[in-house]
Amino acid sequence: MIHQRLSSFPPNFLWGAASAAYQVEGAWNADGKGLSVWDVFTKIPGKTFKGSNGDVAVDHYHRFKEDIALMGDMGLKAYRFSVSWPRVYPRGRGEINEAGLRFYSALIDELLSHDIEPILTLYHWDVPQALMEEYGAWESRRIIEDFDNYCVTLYRRFGDRVRYWVSLNEQNYNLHHGFITSLHPPGVKDRKRFYEANHIAFLANARAIESFRQYVPTGSIGPSFAYSPAYPLTSHPDDVLACDNAEAFTNEWWLDVYCWGKYPQVPLRYLCERGLGPTIQEGDLELLQRGRPDFLGVNYYQTLTYEANPLDGVSEGTMNTTGQKGSGQETGIPGLYRTTRNPHVTTSNWDWAIDPVGLRVGLRRVTSRYRLPILITENGLGEFDVLDSDDTVNDEHRIAYLRSHVEQCRLAVTDGIDLIGYCVWSFTDVLSWLNGYQKRYGLVYVNRDETDQRDLRRARKRSFYWYRDLIRTNGQNM
Ligand code: BG6
Repeated sequence: MIHQRLSSFPPNFLWGAASAAYQVEGAWNADGKGLSVWDVFTKIPGKTFKGSNGDVAVDHYHRFKEDIALMGDMGLKAYRFSVSWPRVYPRGRGEINEAGLRFYSALIDELLSHDIEPILTLYHWDVPQALMEEYGAWESRRIIEDFDNYCVTLYRRFGDRVRYWVSLNEQNYNLHHGFITSLHPPGVKDRKRFYEANHIAFLANARAIESFRQYVPTGSIGPSFAYSPAYPLTSHPDDVLACDNAEAFTNEWWLDVYCWGKYPQVPLRYLCERGLGPTIQEGDLELLQRGRPDFLGVNYYQTLTYEANPLDGVSEGTMNTTGQKGSGQETGIPGLYRTTRNPHVTTSNWDWAIDPVGLRVGLRRVTSRYRLPILITENGLGEFDVLDSDDTVNDEHRIAYLRSHVEQCRLAVTDGIDLIGYCVWSFTDVLSWLNGYQKRYGLVYVNRDETDQRDLRRARKRSFYWYRDLIRTNGQNM
């Protein structure tokens, strides 16, 4: 669709940037915080790049005022951050850690004093270790009550100041790695357990949204989904079918449940016939219906391209966590699909496809199917950055990436997509879960690496100034 004239971004568009507690806060055991599963998992030898962990991360816990001052200087309209559940409930439930709540309260006040809209993510993967030990975290229905209790605590304390809330961040990506590839905690490879835990996470998400209606009736809430729209490699009908399979099993499986409260028919039948389907108890589907969101959070980094995969075809492949281009391998499910390289797009050093048009494709697909407002809760480029002698980073590669994606957002707005905001991942450099500190995403450089914390100094990258100008002109100056 080629437009003669482009629409402008809406006047109150949320130009934002994002982070997650474990990736920025540090202060892993400060002021009464309990352990999260990541505090434990990253200490197991071989799990992360050079054994990196979030013990100190970029020390946002102690430097949040400095970071928010930088956000103010940039003119940022929104900051998406997550709350660490074990900082608030060190054992997952029971006694509240007031010091943890005070930290987030001060963070929110600091944002508001700079006219920055807080977007609060309730859960970005750091489930309390105590609940993992007690009942296996997402593998037990007991987590539904405990998660709800934690969420209600935050609704009561912050519901008067926070209007936008994200429920679960990338349930699809996190549980896939937790139970299929074993790259995230609990480090399991078991498809049945994956679908069971995922169903319980759906129920917890729905319950948290149901409670939200009661405690924050004027606020908006939605999950953030790791969305990689599927492409077929060729127009060969077998590849098109493989692509349909991928769309159903990797996207609609989550999006249909979030937005419609029901599982897509074809994958459900396939999984149930093989004994892999989730256990759906009486009342579950009604709860899922009641837990539908106000908006859909979309984390977009790349499209994935698929081709047919025979029954004896590809299953597991290695992920590139080193930045050695070309070291990532294809993966798939025999009989359904396999991933393959798209010859029409370039890739980052971590083998992620760079496909701005894919963002527009994805926004249009989810709008046609679900008719919900969309908040882009993450989009960005993870790359090597070099700090120059004048304390700047010439990250033209990142500017090019962000510009091309914002251009597609504007085209999508012109197409009629109800886009309410766009958050760059990330504001400062952060710990990349498996890839250490060398895979950088920030608009602000943080002076540290995996083995040396250095001085954790903040330095504005070129992209910082580019984004500042974009925000100032509401997306006109790209
Ligand atoms: C998303 C997560 O998966 O993508 C973020 O929500 C993450 O927490 C980001 O950092 C980029 O992924 P990675 O693996 O490159 O750090």
